[in-house]
Parts: sequence; C-alpha cells; structure tokens
Amino acid sequence: MKAKPTILKLGGSAITQKDKPLKVNRPVIENLAQEIAEANTPQLVLVHGGGSFGHPLAKQYAITDGFKDHSQIMGFSKTHDAMTTLNGLVVQALIQHNIPAVSIAPSSFVLTKSGRIEKMNSDIVTKLLDMKFVPVLYGDTVLDSDKGFAILSGDQLIAKLAIILDAEQIVIGVDVDGLCTADPKKDSSAKLIKHTDLKELKRKHSWIEKARVIDVTGGMYGKIIELIPAIEHGTRTTIVNATKKGTVRKALCNEKVKGTIIEKE
Ligand SMILES: Nc1ncnc2c1ncn2[C@@H]1O[C@H](COP(=O)(O)OP(=O)(O)OP(=O)(O)O)[C@@H](O)[C@H]1O
Ligand SMILES: [Mg+2]
Repeated sequence: MKAKPTILKLGGSAITQKDKPLKVNRPVIENLAQEIAEANTPQLVLVHGGGSFGHPLAKQYAITDGFKDHSQIMGFSKTHDAMTTLNGLVVQALIQHNIPAVSIAPSSFVLTKSGRIEKMNSDIVTKLLDMKFVPVLYGDTVLDSDKGFAILSGDQLIAKLAIILDAEQIVIGVDVDGLCTADPKKDSSAKLIKHTDLKELKRKHSWIEKARVIDVTGGMYGKIIELIPAIEHGTRTTIVNATKKGTVRKALCNEKVKGTIIEKE
C-alpha cells in the first residue's frame, strides 16, 4: 500500500533571519536539506514560509488588504519575486543533497476568496508525488476573486494540502521549541506544551489569541488556528525547533523529539 504523505513546513522564522530583510539563514537551510535527505520520507511535500523575504514587502505594499491602488501592483510582483528567490535557495540546497525537489508556485494554481483558498487544483502535486518527486511550495502572493489579490500563508496551504492529500502527518519547523504557554522570546516563564489535542486547544483559545506576533500571516496564533481543520481531519501535527540539529529528522522519522504534538484526540 502507498504511504500517506507527510507535509513538512519550514518556517520563515527558521530559514531566514526574520529581523533582517531578504537575509537567509544559510546554515539552517543546509542542515535541513541534510536532515531531509537522511529521513528519506516517502511521499514528502515541502512548504516554506516567507520570513524576512515575504513579510516586510507584503506589509509595505499592504498586499493583505487587497487591491486598493495601482502602486500595489509593483508590490505584488516584488513580494512574489522575493519568495521565488528564497524558494530557489531552498530548492538548490535540496538538490545538492540529492533530493528530487520540484518547485511549484502557489500563485499559479491557487485562487483565494477574501484570503481563503477557493480554487486549488492539486493534480500536479499528486502526480509529482506518484513519480517520487518532492514538490516544494511556499507562502505566496495569489489572486483573489473578491479583493484582487491576497497573501496565501504557508500555514493555510499546509492545512489544505493535508486534507486534500489525506496526509499522515504535518511537521512544522520554527525558531522556538514548539507551542508554549506564552511567547518564549518575550516571557522567560513560558512553558513548552509537549502534547495537546483539539478539545484542549479550543479550551485554551483565549491565551492562544494573545500569542499573536507582528506578522502578516498571524505568527504562532495564526498557525494554530489554520491547523485546526487538518487536525480535525486526523493529520497529526508536530511543531519543532528547526534551528536545532536533529529535530526535523527525528520528527519525520517518528522518533521521540522535543516539541509540541497536536492530535485530534
Ligand atoms: N505561545 C507561543 N508559543 C510559541 N511561539 C510563540 C508563541 N507566541 C508567539 N510565538 C512566536 O511565534 C513565532 C513563530 O511564528 P512566525 O510566524 O514568526 O514564524 P514562522 O511561521 O516560522 O514564519 P513564516 O510565517 O515566515 O513562515 C516564534 O518565533 C515565537 O516568537
Ligand atoms: Mg508564520
């Protein structure tokens, strides 16, 4: 029987230097390519975030507000272009580690309506997986049937893909150890939540809401909210620190790892 797909999201917080516009975190990308090669996961889909490539430009040109005036048109192009630059660097690192990565621009096959995925033909992703390629997608600028254009976050994309592809698991790599009781970068008393489920998440909604960081796609709060439909579908989700060696490989191989596991129940 064919293995169910695994979806790995490499967060912009891990693969870029979030406070330095258009700066990658090259050692992290190199190490991740190595770990992905070692894990050798069958049926792997990769999605990466925008970090300092996507967010500052998207914010500068107010892309999430939709089309309001002509000056944003160049902003859409520049934001998309920055994402393709980051995507190129990720794909090159993967290919150097002998991973058959193939880049797909979400802007070319996803249409949103008020920022939510409305149309998405995932046939190419499925076909690539069938042929043992590793499709590499990313958070992208997309066309929107209500607003003209929008930002499609990598987080919204992974949840949708998990449902459409009936994924076994989602692994998310960020620059912190997982979901914590507060932002660990701002609150030294924040504790890592090692395991949680939907019921508990919904009960803790109010404090998750406080976890919002300044980020056009919602930070950790937005991430958890986006993931809920995929978890409801039955896709187990593990959040780990992708800047620490070994975590992503262990999560992909289902080995015990420091992080947050979120299950349906
Ligand atoms: N309760 C919390 N637990 C863990 N992290 C939190 C929490 N609240 C806020 N954060 C912050 O959320 C950040 C992760 O979200 P962020 O959107 O910045 O990263 P990302 O999704 O990897 O990046 P991108 O959106 O570019 O892909 C962490 O760096 C952390 O500082
Ligand atoms: Mg984010």
